[in-house]
Amino acid sequence: MKHYLFLNASTREPGHVGNTETLARRAALALPAGAAQTWLSLAGLDLPSFVDRRHTAGTYEMPEGDAKRVLDALLDATDIVLVSPVYWFSVPSPLKLCLDQWSAWLRVPGLDFKARMAQKRLWVVATSGDRAKAQPMLDSYRLCAEFIGMPWMGALWGKGGAPEAVLADDEALAAAGRFFAPA
Ligand SMILES: Cc1cc2nc3c(=O)[nH]c(=O)nc-3n(C[C@H](O)[C@H](O)[C@H](O)COP(=O)(O)O)c2cc1C
Repeated sequence: MKHYLFLNASTREPGHVGNTETLARRAALALPAGAAQTWLSLAGLDLPSFVDRRHTAGTYEMPEGDAKRVLDALLDATDIVLVSPVYWFSVPSPLKLCLDQWSAWLRVPGLDFKARMAQKRLWVVATSGDRAKAQPMLDSYRLCAEFIGMPWMGALWGKGGAPEAVLADDEALAAAGRFFAPA
């Protein structure tokens, strides 16, 4: 069974729904029949700072706490959807910190993170003020997918701003209805 994990990187205050989540929830209305979905807001989680031990210890312990929660959610899913506003033309810090953990998880003995992640598809839902300026962030995600070996499923972009601004972007809403449609 398909299981979509939506990793929300917005830093809106708890209880405030951002544009990227609004757009992603629109797209999720048209998930394939029978697909499960899990939503996780990264900003509320307590992920550790990443320490680069690649050339000292060379390995990492199995994560604990919220990091283990994210790891388990990733491994349980068949499809990973990055729900990501553009911050400074780039990846928002909650998601960047999460991606940095992947460098540790690649080196947890016995976890087989890369091979397991390579079986999952990567999708991105993004909003920002301007489509052209989202391109560096979208390129980063595509390159991350390539690095891990995950099939890249493309990006859905909408014009954000104040909460619900994206509801005025008719093109994005129409694209949301088609985004997860089976190829
Ligand atoms: C810290 C920060 C940096 C931002 N940087 C950019 C940017 O570089 N380019 C852009 O077009 N919009 C930028 N924005 C605007 C957001 O991408 C836009 O408001 C987005 O819709 C917010 O998503 P959300 O409503 O899901 O939280 C920035 C917003 C914040 C808070």
